[in-house]
Amino acid sequence: MDYSLETASLDTLSCDCLILGLYQDQQLSASAKTLNESTQELLAKIIARADIAGKNGETVLINAVPSNTIDRILLVGLGENQPLTIKNYRKALVSAINSLKKTTISTVVCTMADCAVIDVDSAWKTRQIIEVFSDTVYQFTTCKSDKETDFNIKHLVIASSDNELALAKTGLQQGKAIAEGINLTKHLADLPGNICTPSFLADQALALAKTYTKLEVSILEEADMVKLGMGAFLSVSRGSRQPAKLITLNYQGGEANSKPIVLIGKGLTFDAGGISLKQAPGMDEMKYDMCGGASVLGTLLAAAQMQLPLNIIGLVPSSENMPDGDANKPGDIVTSMAGKTIEVLNTDAEGRLLLCDTLTYAERFNPDVVIDLATLTGACLVALGRVPSGLLGNNDDLCDSLIAASITANDSLWRLPLWEEYQEQLKSNFADLANIGGKDAGTITAACFLSHFAENFNWAHLDIAGTAWRTGNNKGATGRPVPLLIQYLLNKAYG
Ligand code: BES
Ligand code: MN
Ligand code: ZN
Repeated sequence: MDYSLETASLDTLSCDCLILGLYQDQQLSASAKTLNESTQELLAKIIARADIAGKNGETVLINAVPSNTIDRILLVGLGENQPLTIKNYRKALVSAINSLKKTTISTVVCTMADCAVIDVDSAWKTRQIIEVFSDTVYQFTTCKSDKETDFNIKHLVIASSDNELALAKTGLQQGKAIAEGINLTKHLADLPGNICTPSFLADQALALAKTYTKLEVSILEEADMVKLGMGAFLSVSRGSRQPAKLITLNYQGGEANSKPIVLIGKGLTFDAGGISLKQAPGMDEMKYDMCGGASVLGTLLAAAQMQLPLNIIGLVPSSENMPDGDANKPGDIVTSMAGKTIEVLNTDAEGRLLLCDTLTYAERFNPDVVIDLATLTGACLVALGRVPSGLLGNNDDLCDSLIAASITANDSLWRLPLWEEYQEQLKSNFADLANIGGKDAGTITAACFLSHFAENFNWAHLDIAGTAWRTGNNKGATGRPVPLLIQYLLNKAYG
């Protein structure tokens, strides 16, 4: 899909469909008023017939328009006639786009940057229109013979006024970059485990480095990790025939001496549980156990394309977790890169074994902050469901900035406590730490485990087990938490 801006008067535009807003007090949006005048009060007639009341998310598609160039008008309800909340703005956009499903509509002009939204500017609105369009039309067809999708939209034109044009241009450039990043994240996540292996992810990272000059990529092989003493990470990959990779993406967009933001993404391309084998139902979804890693790739792509004035390091420890004659056994004790010994009481708590060594590795970058993203615990679904990602960390400022970004990005987070009382649950009779903390507070004890390896920097952990993909009939990757991470980076760069 291509995205562009247009400032010309609406009644002069040619398109298959023009999207216009209507408030529930039956007031037309500014753009809709203009069109109403140039179409012999067409919209007023539709409203008078009570075909649409203007409640948020209602839509009516008007198929015949007295205009030579505009083929159709989609009226979208915005709700109360006051500045919209971010959530309602997105809801209205999603319904608008969904009502174009299974139509032949190819060129769309969206005027919804003309309605007021609380606390955001035109750059944000333009960006959001692109993000929501791109997200809604995404479909995974790579492995289907029939590549036809539900939407035929090829061109999205965002209407802007002359005085908002500079902001809209910023939003356009950012929106395109973010949509591309999110699409990469979703695509990699939706690919099956037999295609998307650790080596495949490493190749994807190398391809990114070819496209963006400020992005460098290096890959650590298992032999390199042996030299570094990454015994926890390697103990997991020993059970798999696919070689593990530790991917480093280095984006240098900032001053040479400015400390980098380090993003670490769990990259388990399949988590069968190992010898502590998972149950069969739903196990296919463990192809999504690399969503943290895919989010790091998508975020770095977007950052590089936006040329953010920041230094960012992306680290993706990638492996499979499989049952095998050489796999970790419950009770095995492994030695992490930090020197701490770990008793592997459950081989299915493998993510933390990769992450602990990667956290230690992150120290060498002298980070400003380290943020890890991981589909780490089923317990996060029990605690928070599929609405917010879990947030835990050792620095309040960092956690507060992430929460602020999550609100603007509509990619919610909820903080859980990382109190020392919980550390009790990780005691082992035989090693420095156990890799599980019993049945209570599983998301917190997983973060407690990681905290031992994050003592030397400001660190936050996002548990994305409930948010990185949807289950059920609508199964598919969401691209979360890329929107939140990008907003955090934008705030850091320009905020
Ligand atoms: N990747 C899983 C977590 C997961 C499970 C995410 C279900 C999303 C849906 C992780 O590696 C895991 O297996 N965690 C265990 C930890 C337990 C053994 C302490 C879990 O959550 O059951
Ligand atoms: Mn597991
Ligand atoms: Zn896992």
